[in-house]
Amino acid sequence: MEIRPGIHWIGVRDPDLEIFDVIIPTEYGTTYNSYLVEASEPVVIDGVKKEFEDEWFAKLAERIDLRDLRHVIVNHTEPDHSGSIKELLRRAPHVVVHGTRPALQFLSEQVNMDFNKHVVGENDVLDLGDRTLRFIMAPFLHWPDTMWSYLEGEGVLFTCDGFGSHFCFPEGKILASQQEVDFTGAVEYYFDKIMGPFKPKVREAVAKLDGLNLEMIATGHGPILDSELERFIRLYQEWSWEQERAEQKRIVIAYASAYGHTKRMAELIAEGAARNSKVDVVLLDAASAGPGEIEEAVSSFDAIILGSPTINADAVYPVWRVVEAISAITSKGKAAAVFGNYGWSGEAVALLEERLEKMRLVVGYPGLKVRFGLTEEDEERCRLMGETVAESIT
Ligand code: FEO
Repeated sequence: MEIRPGIHWIGVRDPDLEIFDVIIPTEYGTTYNSYLVEASEPVVIDGVKKEFEDEWFAKLAERIDLRDLRHVIVNHTEPDHSGSIKELLRRAPHVVVHGTRPALQFLSEQVNMDFNKHVVGENDVLDLGDRTLRFIMAPFLHWPDTMWSYLEGEGVLFTCDGFGSHFCFPEGKILASQQEVDFTGAVEYYFDKIMGPFKPKVREAVAKLDGLNLEMIATGHGPILDSELERFIRLYQEWSWEQERAEQKRIVIAYASAYGHTKRMAELIAEGAARNSKVDVVLLDAASAGPGEIEEAVSSFDAIILGSPTINADAVYPVWRVVEAISAITSKGKAAAVFGNYGWSGEAVALLEERLEKMRLVVGYPGLKVRFGLTEEDEERCRLMGETVAESIT
């Protein structure tokens, strides 16, 4: 489908995708967008997931004899975009692949074959004869290899994952302006899941769009943005500032309790933390919370305090589930503490501390263990834990 004169969408739809990257539910499926830009020296921008490569090659063949293809741009080399490139290089070994240094390194390791490569940097241009591509470095959105490609003078920016959404548009309705439902929520969900850990990098990249006369953002997933560009750019700016702007600090206390003692400890810790007016306290019973609630609770925090009883010499599954939901990337360096009630061994606290430390959170407060019922002194120790952790982040 021609989205602008001489620019063809040759991507594929994946409406049935339920989970992306093993961990991200995709309610609306997704698309892998790929583009052929016609020029004196034609170029393909990004590929598709390997399992869809036959469909991709068929679309390419409708537009071009591969012998005439000159260039391939890899804006990002996660296999949902680079999976089809190996076969392309096999069929068209003469093409030159352009990407950042990490992108070409990653691609080399993926394809395990020699190919013509050209490393590009900030503002480098690729002369296609009658068209020009300029490269804008956008690292860590969300891999170290990412960049954006700008079709100079035509206002079209190819961003791969940037501004994308896991939203499988209806057959033939590729553009944002053709969508009958508002997919902004899918763009936000994608931002949270994929870009969320890299907000400062998002801000840096988006700032580079100032002064570009953008008319279209051709993403790697979901509808191609051909309208309301300013709104989407503004949203990216807002989302990437959100967390840093929050003045109130957030402590998440997540626990599971077998006989109510660990729960009581959690409540007392919350009481201590809440003495600090600059702190919002979220108390989460991990055993009864659904996955969405757990994810929401740990999606952003300044400190996390986990509580588990010890059963069979281990922390209990609902609490490990919380640990799994914590992002090791965004939580690096954040404050953490662990507590738990126990009967006769009490390994849970140390095991959770060890795991949090391995994730590079800072377990700065000694683990708090209470055996059987809580004495008044134990209760005060719990309040003190909450109060001290709160103080450490405000
Ligand atoms: Fe769509 Fe990071 O791959």
